[in-house]
Amino acid sequence: MQPVAAMTKRLFIKTYGCQMNVYDSARMAELMAPLGYAPAETANGADLVILNTCHIREKAAEKVYSELGTIRRLKRAKERLGGRMVVAVAGCVAQAEGAEIIARAPVVDIVFGPQAYHRLTEMVARATRAGGAVLDTSFPAEPKFDHLPQRAADAPVSALLTIQEGCDKFCTFCVVPYTRGAEFSRPAAEIVAEAALLIAAGAREITLLGQNVNAYHGAAPPDKAGAGGEWGLGKLIGALADLPGLERIRYTTSHPCDVDDDLIAAHKNIGALMPFLHLPVQSGSDRMLAAMNRRHTADDYRRTVVRLRHARPDLALSSDFIVGFPGETETEFRKTVDLVEEIGFAQAFSFKYSPRPGTPAAAAGDQVPEVIKSERLAELQALLRRQQRDFNEASVGRVLPVLFERPGRHPGQLVGRSPYLQSIHAAADDMIGSVVPVRIGAVEGSSLAGTVVADRGIPA
Ligand code: SAH
Ligand code: SF4
Ligand code: F3S
Repeated sequence: MQPVAAMTKRLFIKTYGCQMNVYDSARMAELMAPLGYAPAETANGADLVILNTCHIREKAAEKVYSELGTIRRLKRAKERLGGRMVVAVAGCVAQAEGAEIIARAPVVDIVFGPQAYHRLTEMVARATRAGGAVLDTSFPAEPKFDHLPQRAADAPVSALLTIQEGCDKFCTFCVVPYTRGAEFSRPAAEIVAEAALLIAAGAREITLLGQNVNAYHGAAPPDKAGAGGEWGLGKLIGALADLPGLERIRYTTSHPCDVDDDLIAAHKNIGALMPFLHLPVQSGSDRMLAAMNRRHTADDYRRTVVRLRHARPDLALSSDFIVGFPGETETEFRKTVDLVEEIGFAQAFSFKYSPRPGTPAAAAGDQVPEVIKSERLAELQALLRRQQRDFNEASVGRVLPVLFERPGRHPGQLVGRSPYLQSIHAAADDMIGSVVPVRIGAVEGSSLAGTVVADRGIPA
């Protein structure tokens, strides 16, 4: 869709939380562009400010309120000059706290949840006209994807594509099933069409997104006889790999219980599917895993990893961990450490358990003291950092295909990623969007420095 208005207004979006929020923010910008809203670098002077929020841990949610303090001053300053700034809170805090946000931060004009943002233009019009607060935290029956505009003409080299939303797993620590609602998979044909648009707009890598992306089970494109059926993630990846111009496919976040044979086969057979997998395990203790309602044991996880590595021996693994879940003893924490030692992760995220209002674990009586959580987190993170450094150091001297995504910090430098999601910079120009062989020279912090060894164009 072409913009119908001159770009005279400024839209600032600040995104917190997961990549699904990053995708949603891009779609919101695409919705507002036809109304003349151009992206702004800061909230200062913007006509519309959207905070796209995350509720996963307490810290994430609190950040929003401190940001709203800053926004309030900018809004007042704009009003003193006779202008108007509409302030919206979107995303998972909006869904979880709804009208409470307006009560706590009267600067806010609009509050809307992740399933309602296709109605953004209407909400902005109402807030501008009426001046009262607008609230939409419904889970509409019509999927929002049916009401979003076509993708913009420009896409990043590495683009995001939401294929599945919501979660039916109800891990006892997690807010996602409440903020994002029930699991929903988009039809495969719609995803393939959106991927084709992203590729035409410059994307060379697509990361398929879902809170539980490997639980994907979308309507299959009708066959010649008009019959339907469903596709899992493995089949969908197979179809996307056939799209000309798409070099790389990734997906995140996966649940260990939903790794099926098709997906494992995809890792073996589909060259465009990158050998990197973020597969959160949370804990190495079966008692903790049961209390978390994770529906798998530590051995189930080990077995899944063995099968994946058998299919794709160079598969690099990433994970999420929670330490200090209610009732976690020292011995149970040791089981997490042991599991990490045994599996070996290329990178990982780890968190102190954060009680979230309304989730079952928050009401448990045996909460772990903060100091113990901090000690356990420090120990686990030191181990995970060591593993990441070892993984990166093992790349030194190797030649890896790097997809360059953007200019680096220094002039004449480009930054991209290896198949294993390592961030790599090298002296290069005019190679953005190309997969280029790079010899890795050194580990620099959490990224790698390399040298381009040929001009361009080796298979991904
Ligand atoms: N859908 C994904 C992860 C969603 S949230 C999955 O099933 O694994 C991302 C990560 O945040 C989780 O994997 C978990 O490690 C962490 N997390 C979620 N709720 C949390 C809480 N209450 N306290 C601490 N960490 C939490
Ligand atoms: Fe949250 Fe568990 Fe669902 Fe992941 S699987 S989104 S951790 S409830
Ligand atoms: Fe946060 Fe919501 Fe994503 S709670 S992690 S933004 S699904």
